[in-house]
Amino acid sequence: MLKKILKWLGIAIAGIIGLLVLAALGIYMVSNSKINTTYDITVEAIAIPTDSAAVARGAHIAETRVCYDCHGPDLAGQVFMDAPPMGTIYASNLTSGNGGIGGQYSDTDWVRAIRHGVGADHKALFNMPSEAFWSLSDADLGALIAFLKQLPPVDNPHPAPEYGPVSRGLIALTGAFFSAAHIDHDAPRMQEVEAAATPEFGAYLAQLCAACHQADFSGGTHHGPPDWPNTANITPDPEYGIGKWSEADFFRAMREGKRPDGPDIHPEAMPRTIGNMTDDELKAIWLYLQTVPPVASKGKE
Ligand code: HEC
Ligand code: HEC
Repeated sequence: MLKKILKWLGIAIAGIIGLLVLAALGIYMVSNSKINTTYDITVEAIAIPTDSAAVARGAHIAETRVCYDCHGPDLAGQVFMDAPPMGTIYASNLTSGNGGIGGQYSDTDWVRAIRHGVGADHKALFNMPSEAFWSLSDADLGALIAFLKQLPPVDNPHPAPEYGPVSRGLIALTGAFFSAAHIDHDAPRMQEVEAAATPEFGAYLAQLCAACHQADFSGGTHHGPPDWPNTANITPDPEYGIGKWSEADFFRAMREGKRPDGPDIHPEAMPRTIGNMTDDELKAIWLYLQTVPPVASKGKE
């Protein structure tokens, strides 16, 4: 009798182990196929200027669109994620130094990477948040690339990405981390707006905010480290959003990370570098946020 039970127990355990191995194999294969999917998108031909005014404009865009938060203080790249279950991923070296892409990228490659989240090898870039940059106008993207192309070379080679089991599981099951898979690459882009302290220009700039705060600005979950707070509701709702804030409160939140009515704002989860926007730019965003429909909820989980 005991022998029989042990035999069946053995078969059951072997079965469970077999299923786990199959599941792991499945996750490995599905994640591999997503990692290696190639994207053949039509990349817009954009004029890349070379004049110093455009380069200065591009420098300002790089400073205010969170590039430095991930690509490091000289944009020569740095480790982005290094924990065994997640893997080791570097944000690329954007200069033309050793290990940098600057010397190899064509203008089309720059546009494909920044706007569409797709590398020069046509595979999706991992955790490069192109949905936040997709809305950049041709003129702004051109200026940004003009600035990147003249960065001083910095030698800083990085190893190729290594994906850990948790990253692979998330990639296989959710498709998270690959902007290229979520962006509607052919959607119409907003028309160029004159840069001024107007709600129209604010609507253009606020597309960056929408990438984290959700399309309706009601906030919610994010893809950052698990100990980071959710993004906040920044609609004019008086209870859940920033409806009771003054314009000065908003400027202080953006520039100093201080809330009028609570603890300090997390300086990395809500990148403080965005506070480098000019007075006119922040004012434009403030004016625009007054016009979006208030949402009485804590945002999407
Ligand atoms: C949340 C972090 C993050 C932010 C913000 C970010 N990047 Fe990236 N970026 C990455 C990572 C990580 C990679 C490498 C992806 C890979 O190896 O698959 C990358 C890759 C790239 C590449 C492709 C390089 C290559 O190796 O082929 C370019 C170009 C680039 N980023 C430019 C920018 C610019 C310009 C900005 C600001 C407008 C920016 N990135 C903002 C994380 C980020
Ligand atoms: C990379 C993601 C990200 C981007 C981009 C981003 N935010 Fe945030 N923001 C956050 C997170 C996360 C929080 C919550 C931080 C906390 O609770 O400490 C936050 C909080 C805030 C707050 C505080 C609100 C409150 O009620 O406390 C304001 C205001 C804000 N963001 C405005 C903006 C604006 C305006 C933009 C665009 C110009 C923007 N954010 C872009 C992630 C982001």
